[in-house]
Amino acid sequence: MTSPARRYHITTFGCQMNKADSERMAGVLEGMGLQEAENPDDADLILYNTCSIRDNAEQKVYSYLGRQAKRKQEQPDLTLVVAGCVAQQEGESLLRRVPELDLVMGPQHANRLGDLLEQVFNGEQVVATELIQIVEDITKPRRDSTVTAWVNVIYGCNERCTYCVVPGVRGVEQSRTPAAIRAEMVELGQQGYKEVTLLGQNIDAYGRDLPGSTADGRHQHTLTDLLYTIHDVPGIQRIRFATSHPRYFTERLIRACAELQKVCEHFHIPFQSGDNEILKSMARGYTHEKYRRIIAKIREYMPDAAISADAIVGFPGETEAQFENTLKLVEDIGFDLLNTAAYSPRPGTPAAVWQNQLSEEVKRDRLQRLNHLVSLKAAERSGRYLGRIEEVLVEDQNHKEPSQVMGRTRGNRLVFFTGKIAELKGQLVPVQITDVRAFSLTGQPLLVSC
Ligand code: SAH
Ligand code: SF4
Ligand code: F3S
Repeated sequence: MTSPARRYHITTFGCQMNKADSERMAGVLEGMGLQEAENPDDADLILYNTCSIRDNAEQKVYSYLGRQAKRKQEQPDLTLVVAGCVAQQEGESLLRRVPELDLVMGPQHANRLGDLLEQVFNGEQVVATELIQIVEDITKPRRDSTVTAWVNVIYGCNERCTYCVVPGVRGVEQSRTPAAIRAEMVELGQQGYKEVTLLGQNIDAYGRDLPGSTADGRHQHTLTDLLYTIHDVPGIQRIRFATSHPRYFTERLIRACAELQKVCEHFHIPFQSGDNEILKSMARGYTHEKYRRIIAKIREYMPDAAISADAIVGFPGETEAQFENTLKLVEDIGFDLLNTAAYSPRPGTPAAVWQNQLSEEVKRDRLQRLNHLVSLKAAERSGRYLGRIEEVLVEDQNHKEPSQVMGRTRGNRLVFFTGKIAELKGQLVPVQITDVRAFSLTGQPLLVSC
């Protein structure tokens, strides 16, 4: 048996789910006595937690991996692990591509990292990609922040958006029980965490796979019910959730967010396209009119709510006029933040094999035009903060300007102000906004309670 490696390095690609999984895997590794190495070249175990949402995310992994595979030829006891969505998607074939790999493990196996490494240290090359029932976590994540934390509430996705790899790589929906979620949050509160973001690829689907329904036939454990269940967890001052799906977003949820003081007025609701035909071919299950009604309803209850979203340009068959409908939606709604991407054909997804693909040039051009509008609108939205007093939860030092600290408003805008992180970390500070940029603000703290 080879003795276990001493230092580990994790590089994470992709979404918040992957970041949360990385924190859990880091917890497992530290539980095994390994220590973190900042630089991958100093590590004895390297884990790439990968993303396969677009081709460029996937290609990046291969180039990182190529470098470490070379290093392994000189340092044979280096352990190389590929986890996450590319691992799930490619499985065995990753071993053919990179024979130096020790372990290929899909996202549902994150909790099993310890057992899988045991097999590796016994000299096996391991592939763990069978879709399984995720066991309730007993390992303690090693979280990056001491102020904000992610809590998974539902794994997987049952939607079938025609462009998307997630259902294929993350499997079917599996909700954690309200009791398990609350217990994790109670512990976070005791440890001094102030903010929790509840995570799910389609968080509005939360609970529909759990047993129990109400007298009127509704699922008993919806996201709305969950918010009421966890809202009073001591110590936790702010609650967020992501990602919302317009198809399932309810007024009942909006009312709960307005009513529950800790739930922040920030909604991340991807719309993907502003054109009904494209939405239909994406199989999203709503129209742009429905999307607009949701946002109007949110603003009726919470006029200042921050709205963010994701959008794809250059979906197969998208005409110039259909793209302009996306621009129009962005113009009309005025997003605080919009993540944009050019459509990328993905293996195993329906749209990837359609004949009506657009050229890279058209996609690039549309992406640029959309991004231009996005920054204009974001700057407009930032403008409303000027002179206002905002509650900022201080998370960290501003690494570019160490005399400043950084935190976020309830609406999730990044704010910088002068102060000492040792005194301010984890504090909710009223800050008067003095300077606004498209995606961040600068301000003056008003009073600091220590
Ligand atoms: N579950 C979320 C998003 C998951 S993936 C939802 O339903 O909205 C994150 C984002 O990546 C998506 O919102 C989409 O905008 C983008 N995306 C997903 N697949 C893509 C693809 N094939 N090409 C380009 N962007 C994609
Ligand atoms: Fe992908 Fe659609 Fe599921 Fe979101 S809802 S993860 S875009 S399949
Ligand atoms: Fe990427 Fe997997 Fe998340 S494909 S976006 S890391 S669910």
